[in-house]
Amino acid sequence: MLFFLDTANLTAIQELAATGLVDGVTTNPSLVAKEGVDFPTLVEQICGVISGPVSAEVTTLDGPGMLAEGRVLASIAPNVVVKVPLTPEGLWACKALRDEEIDVNVTLCFSPLQALMAAKAGATYVSPFVGRLDDVGHDGIDLLQQICTVYDNYPDLDTMILAASLRHPKHVLDAAMIGVDVVTIPPKVMYQLIEHPLTDKGVDLFMKDWASMTPVTPVAPAAPTA
Ligand code: E4P
Repeated sequence: MLFFLDTANLTAIQELAATGLVDGVTTNPSLVAKEGVDFPTLVEQICGVISGPVSAEVTTLDGPGMLAEGRVLASIAPNVVVKVPLTPEGLWACKALRDEEIDVNVTLCFSPLQALMAAKAGATYVSPFVGRLDDVGHDGIDLLQQICTVYDNYPDLDTMILAASLRHPKHVLDAAMIGVDVVTIPPKVMYQLIEHPLTDKGVDLFMKDWASMTPVTPVAPAAPTA
C-alpha cells in the first residue's frame, strides 16, 4: 500500500519526506488556498521534494478548460498527476488527458458506480472520500469495500483506488484491511500511525535503566572488514 500526504504545506511535506515513508502527495484547492502562495510555484516546490506522484487539481469546471489547465499543470514536473472532479466534464477531461499519457486522479468520488465510470474514463487513480461520507451519516469504509469488489470483478481495469478524506488511524486500518492501493492522509494522521504512548514510555524506561548502569559502556561501531 502506498502512503500519500494530503497537504499543500511544504514544511510538513519536507519533514515527513525525510522519514522516507512518503510515496506521494495530494493537494486540493482548499489546501492550496490555506498556504496563500502561487499555485504553480508550490506544485514545482512539492515536486522538488517528492519524486512520487503529486496531485494538483484543476479549478476550471468545463471539459476543454480542464484539459487546457491539466496540460499546464502536467508541464510543471513529470510526476504531476492532474486531479479532476468526478463530473461528466471531469471524466471527459480525464479521457482526453489520459490519451496524452498524462496521469489523472479523479476526485470527489462518493459511489461505486462513479468509481466504475472513472475507471472507464481511464483514470490513473480514483479518490473515494471516506470522511465526508461519514460526515453525512453514511459509511465511507463501505464505499471502499464496494469499489474494491467492483474493480476485482473486472481485472482489466487498472485504476488505482486512492482512499481519501481519511481523518484518523482507524480509517487507515480499515482501508488497509480492505486492500486499497493508496491512502492519502494529513501529516497529523501520518504521525499518529507511527507514534504510540507505550513506545515512548518503553524508550524512556530503557534509557533510564541504561543510564543507571555505571559506567555506561558505549556500543562501539563494528570494525570495517578488509
Ligand atoms: C483528497 O485528495 C482530498 O484532498 C482530501 O482527502 C479531502 O479530505 P477532507 O474531506 O478531510 O477535506
